[in-house]
Amino acid sequence: MNQVSVLAQNIPVESHAEASLLEVRDFSLRRKKATVLDRITLSLSPGETLGLIGESGAGKSTLAMALIGLLRAPEVEIEGSLRFRGTELTALKEADFRRLRGNKIGLIFQDATAALNPCFTVGKQIAEPLRRHLGLSASACRARAVELMQSVGIPEPRLRLDAYPHELSGGMQQRIMIAIALACNPELLLADEPTSALDVTIQAQIMELILDRVRALNSSAIFVLHDLALGAQVCDRIAVMYAGQIVEEGPSERVLNAPLHPYTQGLKSCVVELGMPTLTPIPGQIPPLDAMPNGCRFAPRCPKAQAICGEQRPETQTRDGRQVACWFID
Ligand SMILES: Nc1ncnc2c1ncn2[C@@H]1O[C@H](COP(=O)(O)OP(=O)(O)OP(=O)(O)O)[C@@H](O)[C@H]1O
Ligand SMILES: [Mg+2]
Repeated sequence: MNQVSVLAQNIPVESHAEASLLEVRDFSLRRKKATVLDRITLSLSPGETLGLIGESGAGKSTLAMALIGLLRAPEVEIEGSLRFRGTELTALKEADFRRLRGNKIGLIFQDATAALNPCFTVGKQIAEPLRRHLGLSASACRARAVELMQSVGIPEPRLRLDAYPHELSGGMQQRIMIAIALACNPELLLADEPTSALDVTIQAQIMELILDRVRALNSSAIFVLHDLALGAQVCDRIAVMYAGQIVEEGPSERVLNAPLHPYTQGLKSCVVELGMPTLTPIPGQIPPLDAMPNGCRFAPRCPKAQAICGEQRPETQTRDGRQVACWFID
């Protein structure tokens, strides 16, 4: 049986695909010789949620795009492994990837206005994955689209099926995108800053909605977020990215409350808490891709840096239930 028919039948490809739904091992991605992702390693169990946190340019969206096969060779150079339910994604053909994308792996982008097609009604756009991946008839697609719109809190869904995206508010459009992403009950949801384009007043509502649906489907999810505190609040685990590397990864509560990596500690001091008069930004910025330091990429900004930090990349160590990449954890 080939990989595709195995995926289509919902059977794990290999018997040891048991614990992890997603297994990323030493995954690197280069654009024109610049290493945008540098030996990323992480895993996700079924039903688990992971927050991918880091400042702008850390490579969070690049990793998400690689995971859904929208960034592949020859456009970029890739090394290492991305396994989803035991299937090596880096080896999949585009046609096979199309069977996974929007089906077993759902996607929510930052900006629904850009992601939805202005020329098609929202009903048609929700029906598309149902028709394509599940082979539902036109009438079954419409009935399921109504159910999905209801499940994401769209009032009077029957009346809105034939609306075009511009006829709906930003929050409603985001809900439509969530309905599309979850239409085929994906096992993994990738949500890249799913609420940052929305008004602050409805951000929490939409986040709550996504979490609620993810839990209802018992799906796993990766949330790309800027905010460490929000990530820790909504995710089981946190992976902190800096300049294309994961510097710390572990259970949310520990990463937030007792961060071990100086970068995570810096991010934590940026968290605005009620009653705190000031917040301390981390001085400096992520180095440009063509001028990355050889050793630890955070070294030029790190208050604890010593000579070795600029020379050798720190190996990832297991400490207090976490993976941390730093020469001076203590
Ligand atoms: N299409 C592209 N061509 C060239 N370089 C790119 C492209 N997209 C991203 N990059 C570079 O890759 C690096 C990682 O970018 P990425 O968008 O993945 O970061 P991010 O963590 O998602 O940031 P943000 O929080 O701003 O969304 C950055 O240095 C960025 O400039
Ligand atoms: Mg991004």
